[in-house]
Amino acid sequence: MSKILAANFKTNHTRASTAEYIAQLDQWMQKNGYRDEVYIFPPFTALDSFETKSSIVVGAQNAYPTVKGSFTGEIGLEQLDEFGIKTILVGHSERRHLLGETQEFIASKYRWFTERGLTIFYCIGEPLEVREQGEEAVRRYIVEQLEGIDTSYENLIMAYEPVWAIGTGKTATPKLIEKTHAVIKSLCDRPLLYGGSVKPANIEEILSTPGCDGALIGTASWDVSSMVSMLETVIEQ
Ligand code: PGA
Repeated sequence: MSKILAANFKTNHTRASTAEYIAQLDQWMQKNGYRDEVYIFPPFTALDSFETKSSIVVGAQNAYPTVKGSFTGEIGLEQLDEFGIKTILVGHSERRHLLGETQEFIASKYRWFTERGLTIFYCIGEPLEVREQGEEAVRRYIVEQLEGIDTSYENLIMAYEPVWAIGTGKTATPKLIEKTHAVIKSLCDRPLLYGGSVKPANIEEILSTPGCDGALIGTASWDVSSMVSMLETVIEQ
């Protein structure tokens, strides 16, 4: 079965190292006949029109819901269009919790980009204190993170990323992923990825979890050989 893998570079890689990474990955994917979608989200400064021959898609980690304007530190649609970028992450926990994006703002950003047809990776996931309150609290939290979100949007890819598992080395157990994915799928019938400390050592188990359509990978995606080893797992599955 096909799986979607996505690499979120966050604030890592330069323009030069991103180009090198994409060239190496593209070459490997062609050589190995890898056809499933692989998304790469480099930092803004590394965005470009990459001439790849494989199924690599380059997306943006963020953008402001505007064509252009006065939004210091942000980029808009005009800057994405320059490089033909049609994919964007929305609702990532680092933007919610470190940069203070509210659900209301996230929903308006989501709506704006859906109206322009972009593919949206919409990220949701509960912090530790909510997980500790049990399944029902997690469900309520997820419902709140879907507020204002058109879950029937055809270019939507969902990502479940529990905050306590992001960049911490703590991965959710397959059982917990399966349970939570079932809750999310009952609310939104779109491809659903898992994210949070996915790495070569655990990706096979994660991708075999029922209801898991792929993975959104941070830390373990930054090194191209580690990314390749995760793609090998998809081929072997
Ligand atoms: P991680 O990040 O793989 O480093 O936990 C995942 C993410 O934030 O998308």
